[in-house]
Amino acid sequence: MQKLAIQGGARLNGEVRVSGAKNAALPIMCASLLSADDLRLGNLPDMHDVATMKKLLQQMGVRIDSAAQGAIFNAAQVDRLEAPYDMVKTMRAAILVLGPLLSRFGEARVSLPGGCAIGSRPVDLHIKGLQAMGADIHIEHGYIHAQAKRLKGARILFELVSVTGTENLMMAAVLADGVTVLENAAREPEVVDLALCLIAMGAKIDGAGTDTITIVGVDRLHGADYCVMPDRIESGTFLVAAAATGGNITLTDARADILDSVLDKLREAGAKIVVSGDRISLDMQRRPAAVNVRTAPYPAFPTDMQAQFMAMNSVAEGSSMVVETIFENRFMHVQELRRLGALIEVEGNAAVIKGSAHLEGATVMATDLRASACLVIAGLVAQGETVVDRIYHLDRGYEHIEAKLSALGAQIRRIR
Ligand code: UD1
Repeated sequence: MQKLAIQGGARLNGEVRVSGAKNAALPIMCASLLSADDLRLGNLPDMHDVATMKKLLQQMGVRIDSAAQGAIFNAAQVDRLEAPYDMVKTMRAAILVLGPLLSRFGEARVSLPGGCAIGSRPVDLHIKGLQAMGADIHIEHGYIHAQAKRLKGARILFELVSVTGTENLMMAAVLADGVTVLENAAREPEVVDLALCLIAMGAKIDGAGTDTITIVGVDRLHGADYCVMPDRIESGTFLVAAAATGGNITLTDARADILDSVLDKLREAGAKIVVSGDRISLDMQRRPAAVNVRTAPYPAFPTDMQAQFMAMNSVAEGSSMVVETIFENRFMHVQELRRLGALIEVEGNAAVIKGSAHLEGATVMATDLRASACLVIAGLVAQGETVVDRIYHLDRGYEHIEAKLSALGAQIRRIR
């Protein structure tokens, strides 16, 4: 199993280009199932989840040809309407094939995701929504088996805000008969990116980015060229790493307009942030001040940035509270941060962090994607060497992270 060895203490300095967004790329790749024509995608990040999604689509019969910084997807010859367990268990986002398969081909078999490190994460809202659109759905042998001659437009109220739930139903609705209205829809920028790609393919969608999305079903979608948006979580991760190390970095190809809640918290911590076009610069001249964080659906503070802020708060001046409202059991990084000397107490969904002047390097184990990023940041500030084990989690969702951090001056190497 591969590990990262980090020698702490270096301040991050320099420029780094933001990659395409994982959470936009994955649903947009699934959108290729909705048309028999070519979908040419640019800015696809080079990471494991994208490779896994390509493999899954190829197994279904989608032809994928490489193109500069991306790929061309063609779903004219799909012959296997199934996402098997071994794929879904490694990448929950595989559930995103359910809506498109059902809507274009009238049938889908998708494994239930099962247990997940950051909580139970059910998919009941996806299923209920498709049933409201007339799908006949049975759970058999651990699989969701869905059938529908043609889905019908419906008014669907999400009882909880779900990002992939919104995306799955939006993709189901674009080829349905009639009008679908999604209420209490997720407003995440990745939902908007998917909607823009679907619109480029001929879909009729209004309201993406608000909590009410209206989709007028059409008979067919055509091909399109689309470029995936920049990754706001990768952007935030590098900015927090720079802030925690007292660094000075500039992100290029970034979008500040979708990072407000994160940039506000970094300013509160004492960072000077300058935005100019697609560049975001951060300069941290002092030890960070502790900041309270409460996760909630967009545009509030993202759960995917919670662990990274916990790492920064561990070495900040003062005490802070981090409250996680989206996922149960998303504090698994706490145990590992404690191994580095962090002073953190957890009570239910709240963690209280007393900033320490120093952390000390140790061997730690990554438990999920963003927890891994948190441990890397902690390793960058800890004294001595930190070894982060099980970095396959990190490789799932960050493009060439150690190369990017090395270019910023971090002492980090991969142990194979
Ligand atoms: C997406 C992101 C993930 C991010 C999360 C929250 C992708 C591929 N992943 O995950 O990085 O952390 O949004 O911003 O985009 N829920 C139900 N029933 C459902 C669906 C969800 O109870 O059918 C619950 C979940 O357990 C969770 C909450 O709703 O407590 C939000 O989950 P959701 O927004 O669906 O997360 P994902 O879309 O899986």
